[in-house]
Parts: sequence; C-alpha cells; structure tokens
Amino acid sequence: MKKFLILFVAMTMVSAAALAVIAADNGPAEIKLPASMGEITFNHAAHQTRVADCQTCHHQGEGTACRSCHDVKPEAPDAKKAFHASCKGCHKEQNGPTKCKECHTGPKG
Ligand code: HEC
Ligand code: HEC
Ligand code: HEC
Ligand code: HEC
Repeated sequence: MKKFLILFVAMTMVSAAALAVIAADNGPAEIKLPASMGEITFNHAAHQTRVADCQTCHHQGEGTACRSCHDVKPEAPDAKKAFHASCKGCHKEQNGPTKCKECHTGPKG
C-alpha cells in the first residue's frame, strides 16, 4: 500500500511537470497589445481552445511573435494591417467582435 502511494505521488509529480512544460510553450494566457485607439486585452488561452491549429495565427511557425516580422521586415505588411486582417477576418466568419471598441477597450497608448 505504501509503495503504491509513493508511486502515485511520483506519477502525479511527473505529470504536473509535463503540464508546466506544455503551458510554457503555449505562451502567455493573456497578452496586452498597446494601440493609439486603446489597448487590446487578448485572451490567448481562450483563443487556443477556440482555434484548433496554432498556425491559423502563427502562420510562420508556432509561437513566433508577430512583431518580430510585422513592422520590422520590409516583405511583411505593417502590424496594424496584419493584426486587423487576422483578428477581424476570423471574427467576421465566426461571429467574434468586429467593432473598434470591442477590441480597443483599454487606455490609449
Ligand atoms: C478584433 C479586434 C480589433 C478590432 C475590431 C479593431 N482592432 Fe484595431 N487593432 C487590433 C490589434 C490586435 C492591433 C495591433 C496592436 C499592436 O500592434 O500592438 C490593432 C491596431 C490598431 C491601430 C494601430 C495601432 C496604433 O497604435 O496606431 C489602429 C489605429 C487601430 N487598430 C484602429 C482601429 C479602428 C479605428 C477600429 C474600428 C474600425 C479597429 N481598430 C478595430 C485589434 C482590433
Ligand atoms: C487567435 C490567434 C492565435 C492563436 C490561435 C494562437 N496564438 Fe499564440 N499568439 C498570438 C498573438 C497575437 C501573440 C502575440 C504576438 C506578439 O506579441 O507579437 C501570440 C504569442 C504567442 C507566444 C509568445 C511569443 C513571444 O515570443 O512573445 C507563444 C509562445 C505562442 N503565442 C504560442 C502559441 C501556441 C503554441 C498556440 C497553439 C496552441 C498559439 N500560440 C495559438 C495569437 C495566437
Ligand atoms: C517570420 C516572420 C513573420 C512572423 C513571425 C509573422 N508574420 Fe505574418 N506575414 C509575414 C510576411 C512576410 C507576410 C507577407 C507574405 C505572406 O502573406 O506570407 C505576412 C502576412 C501576414 C498576413 C496577411 C496580411 C494581408 O494583408 O494579406 C497576416 C494576416 C499575418 N501575416 C498575420 C500575422 C500574425 C497575426 C502573426 C503572429 C501571430 C504573424 N503574422 C507572424 C511574416 C511574418
Ligand atoms: C481563427 C479565429 C479567430 C482569430 C484569428 C481571432 N479570434 Fe478573437 N475570437 C474568436 C471567436 C470565435 C470569438 C467569439 C467567441 C464567443 O463569443 O463565443 C472571439 C472573441 C474575441 C474577443 C472577445 C473576448 C473573448 O476573448 O471572448 C476578443 C477581445 C478577441 N476575440 C480578440 C482577438 C484579437 C485581438 C485577435 C487577433 C490577435 C483575435 N481575436 C483573433 C475567434 C478568433
């Protein structure tokens, strides 16, 4: 019985560690995106459960920051255009928010 308990505790610890690693790869649960129209609070975790494939957004590979290219590399469209195309494009199809103030809810900045 005691042996079983030790095994059980060990297994729980291993799976907790594995979960922590998966969570780290998923990036932050909530991401604040500053904008002159008002800051956007993007619920990354909720979108990860809504959108089956990470690459629907991360079209250049999982977990790459959009701003590492958009507004940086000349071949990439500017960040405003890319974000609006990605976010609003899907929202139009799937009944997500499309009005300015539904996304730009925070302080201007
Ligand atoms: C679905 C969410 C969403 C909606 C709806 C939306 N935006 Fe945005 N907007 C964003 C995101 C995300 C960014 C990128 C912010 C960043 O780069 O940090 C952005 C960026 C911008 C920027 C450039 C950032 C800056 O600081 O200048 C402007 C201007 C802007 N939006 C205006 C608007 C206006 C006007 C509307 C309504 C016609 C609108 N947005 C609707 C999500 C949205
Ligand atoms: C609905 C769109 C969307 C989906 C789906 C999505 N992400 Fe993201 N993710 C973003 C945005 C937007 C950012 C912020 C990028 C930035 O700040 O430039 C981000 C940021 C990240 C970051 C942090 C990148 C950095 O270096 O700052 C990681 C890691 C990440 N995502 C992983 C994932 C993984 C793994 C999945 C799938 C399980 C996923 N994302 C699904 C939109 C999405
Ligand atoms: C490694 C560089 C790189 C990263 C990272 C990247 N992009 Fe892009 N993106 C590009 C390039 C280059 C283009 C233009 C060519 C193409 O469509 O592939 C583009 C095009 C787009 C387009 C099409 C724009 C239009 O007007 O047709 C959208 C939308 C987009 N990116 C959104 C995103 C989002 C959202 C993220 C982060 C989750 C992201 N991108 C990360 C390089 C990148
Ligand atoms: C591939 C589809 C898809 C993409 C891409 C997407 N969203 Fe969404 N989003 C949704 C759906 C679907 C909902 C509505 C869920 C509901 O009402 O049940 C939603 C809801 C939201 C909401 C309302 C609050 C919440 O999370 O429930 C905000 C704000 C939002 N999205 C911001 C964004 C921003 C900012 C981006 C771009 C960085 C983005 N979304 C990209 C599908 C998407």
